[in-house]
Amino acid sequence: MSILPSKNSASHSNTLAIGAVFTPLEWAIFAIEKYNLFEKWLQGATIFDPTMGEGNLLEAFLKIAQDKGYDLTTLPIDNLFGVELNKQFFHNFFKKIATKYKIKLPANNFKNSDIFFCPLKNSTTSS
Ligand SMILES: C[S@@+](CC[C@H](N)C(=O)[O-])C[C@H]1O[C@@H](n2cnc3c(N)ncnc32)[C@H](O)[C@@H]1O
Repeated sequence: MSILPSKNSASHSNTLAIGAVFTPLEWAIFAIEKYNLFEKWLQGATIFDPTMGEGNLLEAFLKIAQDKGYDLTTLPIDNLFGVELNKQFFHNFFKKIATKYKIKLPANNFKNSDIFFCPLKNSTTSS
């Protein structure tokens, strides 16, 4: 499990400060396979992680595809969505995907924002 130290890491006290905890990629793969989510995604399901961190849950779909020998450019990446509050985690996600999978995700599907204040794509305002 990856545990990132928080900014205020309490190295001078007896308090253990724990920062963001991300789902290990292997655990995400396990869950996706257990519930057949990869097949559902290929068949048109939308995948959304509203607090995506560095996007391990989303990455797992790409990793499974890569391991199964899929041409990654043919995957339904338009159906992957995510929101993350932390700027660094958000940027690390895009960097990681570009480096490991050599694909560019649709930027409009991802927001560096607070999910509670994130405008929906097709939301309308009433006057
Ligand atoms: C426990 S981590 C999980 C990350 C990812 N879902 C995973 O399983 O690896 C929670 C993440 O939620 C983000 N987060 C917390 N509150 C949020 C909010 N209101 N809107 C968007 N992201 C938020 C944190 O910055 C952190 O990266």
